[in-house]
Amino acid sequence: MKNIVLIGFMGVGKGSVAREVIKHSSYIAIDTDDLIESMENRKIKTIFEQEGEAYFRKLEKNIAKWLENSVQNTLISTGGGFYKQKNLKKIGIIVLLDSPFDAIIKRIKEHPNAAKKLKKRPLLSDLKAAKKLYDERRPEYLKLADIVIDVTDKSALACSKELLKKVKKHV
Ligand code: S3P
Repeated sequence: MKNIVLIGFMGVGKGSVAREVIKHSSYIAIDTDDLIESMENRKIKTIFEQEGEAYFRKLEKNIAKWLENSVQNTLISTGGGFYKQKNLKKIGIIVLLDSPFDAIIKRIKEHPNAAKKLKKRPLLSDLKAAKKLYDERRPEYLKLADIVIDVTDKSALACSKELLKKVKKHV
């Protein structure tokens, strides 16, 4: 089993889809943001505040190298900016979770933990800047993706089933 690398914009539901995939397959899931938080013993938001974004991106680069060299048979969900890693394609099959910007924001705002979800993502604090980031990134996400899943108005379970079906066809 090749690794599956989940990419996509902040709040698109990478974590929720990953949790459904592992319920319905033999994949183990890891999350690049979780790895960084546990290695640093502080939250992403705090890392951004105390060290700046460049430091965080360096940590992502270290994780990307480790994933390429040492991780197999794993579903890897990534932070929204992880797609910039040069070795991304060497890590595994790239699956993009895709949705329009407004639908992503609506999804976050309707979540019972909306305030927490917004607060933990420093790059979502200014929605105008976040939309600009989305517009810059979406073509890049699409270029990199081996598989695209439109997650708009679909449950995480439905997305996970679609993902597993498409991955099976791809390999
Ligand atoms: C980021 C996305 C976040 C996290 C960090 C930076 C980004 O992850 O890695 O705040 O650059 O898009 P999520 O996509 O899980 O929110």
